[in-house]
Amino acid sequence: MVKKQKIFLIGARACGKTSLGRAFAKALQWHFVDTDALLQQEAACSVATYVQKHGWAAFREFESHILQKAAKEHHVIATGGGMVLREENRYFMRAEGCVFFLQAPVDILVERLRFDPEHEQRPSLTGQGLVEEVATVLLERTPLYVATAHVVLEAQAPLELLLKTAISQYHSL
Ligand code: S3P
Repeated sequence: MVKKQKIFLIGARACGKTSLGRAFAKALQWHFVDTDALLQQEAACSVATYVQKHGWAAFREFESHILQKAAKEHHVIATGGGMVLREENRYFMRAEGCVFFLQAPVDILVERLRFDPEHEQRPSLTGQGLVEEVATVLLERTPLYVATAHVVLEAQAPLELLLKTAISQYHSL
């Protein structure tokens, strides 16, 4: 039996975690938080500036701390795309709540990232071009997203349909 007190949204950059998370929280009348937003608030700077100053290893450490903090105070939590990289985070999310993976193919993510790159929140992870980076990152992380998730959703679906599916999956867990 899955614990239902919290909902975690995982998936790659631009898969729609924040939009679905907000809608999910509104529908359930639960609190919502996005770990990137909370991290930027705590650090008082953007992800790009934080990474530039302290590096990715420090960012991952901080991000794990933010996950714990977010889970104490909120019930629907949209996570940064790399939250699953640490085993402790994967274990924590699976054990503490229902985990939804928003799955999307490379071309859809690339299109969304071209349209809305959010450079301050999304500095380059690999130094590659956009298409190569999204493909590389998905190849590495998809098994982690799948292993962590209780439910996999197709992120391309319209938000309204996604929400309906997510709510019905949540109630059936
Ligand atoms: C990252 C995704 C970003 C942000 C940071 C690292 C990643 O979050 O946490 O730039 O490693 O994929 P979003 O998935 O919300 O864009």
